[in-house]
Amino acid sequence: MTLTRRTLLGAAASLLLAAAIPAHAQKPLTIGFSQVGAESEWRTANTASIKDAARKAGVNLKFADAQQRQENQVKAIRSFIAQRVDVIAFSPVVESGWDTVLREAKAARIPVILTDRAVKVSDPSLYVSFIGSDFVEEGRRAARWLVEHQKKNPARSYNIVELQGTVGSAPALDRKAGFAEVINGNPKLKILRSQTGDFTRAKGKEVMEAFLKSEGKNINVLYAHNDDMAIGAIQAIEEAGLKPGKDILVVSIDGVKGAFEAMLQGKLNVTVECNPLLGPQLIQTAQLVKAGKPVPKRITVNEGVFPAEVAAKEFPNRQY
Ligand code: AHR
Repeated sequence: MTLTRRTLLGAAASLLLAAAIPAHAQKPLTIGFSQVGAESEWRTANTASIKDAARKAGVNLKFADAQQRQENQVKAIRSFIAQRVDVIAFSPVVESGWDTVLREAKAARIPVILTDRAVKVSDPSLYVSFIGSDFVEEGRRAARWLVEHQKKNPARSYNIVELQGTVGSAPALDRKAGFAEVINGNPKLKILRSQTGDFTRAKGKEVMEAFLKSEGKNINVLYAHNDDMAIGAIQAIEEAGLKPGKDILVVSIDGVKGAFEAMLQGKLNVTVECNPLLGPQLIQTAQLVKAGKPVPKRITVNEGVFPAEVAAKEFPNRQY
């Protein structure tokens, strides 16, 4: 189903959160935030949303860019602990390996909020809340679009190449799993090759070139775990003398403006939305935590699916 608006529910929940914050808790607080990096258009929008929400709320934001490296995030978290920030927030590069540093934050009594990506930890009390998308569902949505497309062309079978996100990251693991869950057992849909493109355009192009070299015209579909890799791959497809969106269907995730531009040019077939505008929810949650109020352990985001047919109508509404 194509969703074109945020649900009223989401807006009401935000208002409720804001109303629940007593005046004394609205005074400036310090948040240490460790960002994944600047690997994609999505990430740029996510960083801007967090910085903007912090500025508007008068929050003292200590921002650290981890350049896609877990060890940089661990260092940043330790530095936030040493600085005695009120709240630590981070978007974990990868899913595992956080127990030790999160135990240190807990021992220092500094609450931790996860944004965008989840972690796998032995003790869930090591973080207070996780705000972000359902990546498994995003993978399912991408696959469901393909299943529907295949049903409209019942005589055809589709060979798929998959560009995975960063190895060990929650969106790469979950988007792969969600997609596989829907297509597994479907004799008309087969994954030929699957490799990481690290969520970047440059890597997406490079890996797609390799796919094209080894599989050539056997490839009917590209499934990219994000729009940036899809855009890089589109370039590789064109350079190989093929038409992206036609000779090779392009299915990706994020819903950034670059993907809409590609859809308007007929080069990308569908993008599944992953909303990066998490800043306001992060700041509100941090304020509630600081005020000692309970917060939901899991805060999800409402998102849509945008096939190329709706791109022209939706493009003017896109905020990122
Ligand atoms: O964690 C969200 C993912 O990270 C986005 O889909 C991708 O573009 C980003 O790099």
